[in-house]
Amino acid sequence: MEPSKRDPGGASEISQRKAQHVEICVDKQAYAVETGESGLSGVRFIHHALPELDEREIDTTLHFLGQRIALPFFISCMTGGSARGEQINRELAAAAQAARIPVGMGSFRVLFRDESLFEQFHLRRYAPDVPVIANLGAIQVRDVDPARIIAMVERLEAQAMAIHLNAGQELFQPEGDRDFRGIKEAIARLCERSSVPIIVKETGFGIRPADVDFLLSAGVSYVDLAGAGGTNWIRVESYRLAAGEAAIAQEFDDWGIPTAALLLALRDHPRPLLASGGIRSGMEIAKTLALGAELAGLALPFIRAVAEGGKEGAARLVASLERSLRAAMTLAGCRDLAALRRSPLLIEPRLRESAALLREAEGEVGPT
Ligand SMILES: Cc1cc2nc3c(=O)[nH]c(=O)nc-3n(C[C@H](O)[C@H](O)[C@H](O)COP(=O)(O)O)c2cc1C
Repeated sequence: MEPSKRDPGGASEISQRKAQHVEICVDKQAYAVETGESGLSGVRFIHHALPELDEREIDTTLHFLGQRIALPFFISCMTGGSARGEQINRELAAAAQAARIPVGMGSFRVLFRDESLFEQFHLRRYAPDVPVIANLGAIQVRDVDPARIIAMVERLEAQAMAIHLNAGQELFQPEGDRDFRGIKEAIARLCERSSVPIIVKETGFGIRPADVDFLLSAGVSYVDLAGAGGTNWIRVESYRLAAGEAAIAQEFDDWGIPTAALLLALRDHPRPLLASGGIRSGMEIAKTLALGAELAGLALPFIRAVAEGGKEGAARLVASLERSLRAAMTLAGCRDLAALRRSPLLIEPRLRESAALLREAEGEVGPT
């Protein structure tokens, strides 16, 4: 992969980098960006041979961010800021609108450098009836005047703002940030002033339980765990690095906290959690809800689906996710999402042990 031309932090460098990320993520033959295991294979529902349900009456709807949505999953924050990103955003937003599911946008950081790109991020035009989630990195939340951030989220007509945590990725970007101090305070400050709910998400390495509880007590409305087991952003960056650096990056193939271990470690108290990171099927969506998530999020499968088949490709993916979610709910005897959340589960000892170790390592955690 060609290195981007230097213009540190400038709009053209950000756009080139985004374009490279999309190229690496969608070209399955040339690049392997998924590593590890989400742990969801260690969770099983208990089969109901006598479900006493009509599959056509299963209710998968719920309220999220003030709107009624059709299915308990969303398209995670991805792209924007490059020509291909603009088209992908438009198709993802149109697919979300058609399916009545929420959609996130990629980081709008570039808009502080080049406002002419605004329409690329204005997903509301294509998704007027579903929640649209704006997105910005935690470093920008720390370094940019909160009034400018809030004004941009309002201009974007977003229903929530996701702040992403991506220290791992930054460390393996030659142009990345190295100073991660002051972020907790900046998030708390933004929560106080924001006119829309704030979501904090990782980008594929997970958020440890003590930090989840810190964020919720600081005023964050939802924490999206974005655990390990799917897209590994250090691996993505490794393809933009010279061989020696790339080898160091690949030492982090098994970095991060698996999504299922986190959900299980946090299952003792209900918390407003979103689950993403390595979720690849309707069955896995069902498992994350049964483990305590309010909704599940998927990134890589959606960008690949639109890259291959446009908004129809994304619609086909939604249909297959819905098909297996409904089948799993029927066979687990769950008429609606409330029943799914109460569903008993068989959890393999290895996963139980990981969750117990996580809880132990974190000391006593619990919502404050
Ligand atoms: C092409 C691509 C671009 C992404 N860009 C962003 C971004 O701008 N902001 C963000 O919060 N997360 C971004 N992510 C991370 C995802 O939202 C998600 O947290 C991560 O990929 C793990 O989910 P997955 O395993 O389903 O891909 C991006 C992911 C992909 C695949």
